[in-house]
Amino acid sequence: MPLQPTKHIWHDGKLVPWDQAQVHVMSHVLHYGSSIFEGIRCYQTEQGAAIFRLADHMQRLLDSAKIYRMDLDYTLNQLIEAVVETVEANGIAPCYIRPIAFRGYGELGVNPTGNPIELYIGNFPWGKYVAGDHGADVCISSWNRMAPNTLPALAKAGANYMNSQLIRMEASINGYAEGIALDVNGYVSEGSGENIFVVHKGQLHTSSLGSSVLAGITRASILTLARDMGIPVVEQTLPRELLYIADEVFFTGTAAEVTPIRSIDRIQIKDGKTGPITKQLAAEYFGIAAGKRPDRFNWLTPVKVTAAETVTA
Ligand SMILES: Cc1ncc(COP(=O)(O)O)c(C=O)c1O
Repeated sequence: MPLQPTKHIWHDGKLVPWDQAQVHVMSHVLHYGSSIFEGIRCYQTEQGAAIFRLADHMQRLLDSAKIYRMDLDYTLNQLIEAVVETVEANGIAPCYIRPIAFRGYGELGVNPTGNPIELYIGNFPWGKYVAGDHGADVCISSWNRMAPNTLPALAKAGANYMNSQLIRMEASINGYAEGIALDVNGYVSEGSGENIFVVHKGQLHTSSLGSSVLAGITRASILTLARDMGIPVVEQTLPRELLYIADEVFFTGTAAEVTPIRSIDRIQIKDGKTGPITKQLAAEYFGIAAGKRPDRFNWLTPVKVTAAETVTA
């Protein structure tokens, strides 16, 4: 899906025109993958536009920075204000928001500490991420997720997405909408850009943080909603074959939102239809995001946007 440019991009405290948000080809990030980023959705609700779990996303950006010893020099509140300023200046909702911090231009060499850290925030319209309106047909990837103590999975770092790209390309070349990676021990980890949930015998399972997953904000939201709705929740290592015999399987993610999975490795999940627990959780999740159900966990940050732009997938 081609990027739809907006007017401004926020760069280190100032809004610059979209076309002027450029980096030098000798920037450290281009050579060594030294970036961290976030992906956030802003929804159009009946009460106006609102950003979903903005503080949690910006806290995760700060956490990624801490893991990689990057001094961002912004407080959580300043980061939140910068995102709101960008979305309001561009006046587009719904939209996807992409804050990114990276090691810029200065020195080449693996030790990154001599380079400036730059922070940019852009936003643009973006639609459905994982194909399949009645459930996605996915596969287990031949690529594993990163082994523990190699690339830290809890940091949302650009470098991790080289692994994600291998998973996603392989899936798509083989005719699948997405790939699910196992961890280095052969347990279920996550999709190339999504966490995974399994419903089995009335319990909701998801891989634990020890299985090289990103601590997804949507994952956390679904866990909160499930507990609130009285659905038993288990976070633990998941054997691959549990996926095949599951009653329901779905992906979660800011981009993927709640995406039901219809088949894995051409094995149909149950009757191939979206299951009742997936439907119930998705209805609650989208209900809150769209402002149709009370925001009882304080997940929405209202923003003033002047132009509403319809997202096309
Ligand atoms: C590898 C990976 N796992 C999980 C997720 C889901 O995270 P979130 O719900 O915070 O978007 C993402 C999305 O960014 C991701 O890239």
